[in-house]
Amino acid sequence: MEPFVFFGGKGGVGKTTVSCAYARKCADAGVDTLVVSTDPAHSVSDVFDQQFGDSPEPVDGVDGLHALEIDPDDEVTAHLDEIRNRLSDQVSASMVNEINKQLEMAHQTPGAYESALFDRFVEVMRESDPYDRVVFDTAPTGSTLRLLGLPEFLEDWVDRLMHKRRQSIDLFEKAAIGNNEPRRVMEGDPVLERLQERKEFFEYAGSALREDAAFFLVLNPDQLSVNETARAIDDMDAEGLGVSGLIANKLTPPPDDDENGRGARYLRDRIDTETDRLDQVRESLDPPLLAEIETRTEEIRGDLLADVAAELDVAVDAEAPSFV
Ligand SMILES: Nc1ncnc2c1ncn2[C@@H]1O[C@H](COP(=O)(O)OP(=O)(O)OP(=O)(O)O)[C@@H](O)[C@H]1O
Ligand SMILES: [Mg+2]
Repeated sequence: MEPFVFFGGKGGVGKTTVSCAYARKCADAGVDTLVVSTDPAHSVSDVFDQQFGDSPEPVDGVDGLHALEIDPDDEVTAHLDEIRNRLSDQVSASMVNEINKQLEMAHQTPGAYESALFDRFVEVMRESDPYDRVVFDTAPTGSTLRLLGLPEFLEDWVDRLMHKRRQSIDLFEKAAIGNNEPRRVMEGDPVLERLQERKEFFEYAGSALREDAAFFLVLNPDQLSVNETARAIDDMDAEGLGVSGLIANKLTPPPDDDENGRGARYLRDRIDTETDRLDQVRESLDPPLLAEIETRTEEIRGDLLADVAAELDVAVDAEAPSFV
């Protein structure tokens, strides 16, 4: 089983719940585990009833489990501050003002949010040494998936810029540089260096996600959720990311056999509908359905989490990553 495990799915299906349950299952099996959450609204802090922040902290009462909560807003701010610092070293003071204005606008775009979050994910994967397993309560979708295509795009860009730079070196500094070894050509050119750095970063991300990560999608037994899951599988497939399995959550529990009141009839009808949807999942989607988790009467935390963990038919043993 891959060391990085992602649980994706549409809003509210139970990604955070299932991630925490799985992380707990891994920790209980003796696998040193870090669970990473990205949603400040309902996240690992609620599930474990303990506040977590931007660096890993041990989860009280669960040996071998750490949790980390990424705040996407903080990530965007940090990301843009970094760009601002890099740029202000390189441009005149009068430009800094203009750049600040542009960056403020960039802050508002959804792309900035996803890109900053993606960077932080990859950083967490790169720094995952102390853990055998890292569990993320989300999976790349939409524009984040497209970021995986960046290395090829950046490579072209870097190659063209290097070519230009070689030409100018030829003209002005021929004596200074004898060979055309790439690092040497880049030396002293902050733009080229930065592009090369980004290219290597996305190359790492692509390899780690393709070779060292397993993706699971959480769904609810309704048509909308099934349709979205089918789309997500296709989108991920297009970027070379296979979905290893599906987790159905929030299934209606059956009434006792001798119950025949209105409530019991409602439950039976509802279960018929859900059974149809899950049959559709088994027949029309490739990844296997690995768990069917019933709706509990309250939020999943504490002991309930261990119950849900027991229902997850997902392997816990962890291989070492090959790309860190
Ligand atoms: N099987 C279940 N039984 C009862 N409540 C559940 C179950 N699964 C999840 N919940 C509850 O449903 C809500 C949404 O679950 P959760 O936060 O795990 O979803 P999510 O996919 O992470 O949502 P978001 O997209 O907002 O991050 C939470 O209040 C959670 O406690
Ligand atoms: Mg969540």
